[in-house]
Amino acid sequence: MPFFEWSDELDTNVDSMNKEHQTLINLMNKLYDLNSSDAPKDEIKKAFDEFASFTIKHFKDEEEYMASINYEKLEVHKKIHEDLLKKVTEFKTNFEQSQNKLENSFFSFLSVWLNSHIRGIDKQYGAF
Ligand SMILES: [Fe+2]
Ligand SMILES: [Fe+2]
Repeated sequence: MPFFEWSDELDTNVDSMNKEHQTLINLMNKLYDLNSSDAPKDEIKKAFDEFASFTIKHFKDEEEYMASINYEKLEVHKKIHEDLLKKVTEFKTNFEQSQNKLENSFFSFLSVWLNSHIRGIDKQYGAF
């Protein structure tokens, strides 16, 4: 069973964003699996880079989408993305500098984020 599974409750009603969320989930699951196996640090790092770059791309696409529909809470949503990205970067730097494995707190942070951010924050632009 994958670490995190897509469910209908994550449906934002915007196809392109749903697809990107699914890609994010797949990349996160891949990172989780590698991190739980005896994969070398290099490989984990590569998967983390991939996840982090896609997160940046997704936030950018999502912000563009929200701007295109004149979404009223764009600025607040942008700020939340910024904070999330900061957190991801912190975990990434710690890992690269001083750890061989990502700690569990990283994955709990990610799953809480995906769940609550998509359900609570992203779904609002779908309803808008
Ligand atoms: Fe978002
Ligand atoms: Fe999103």
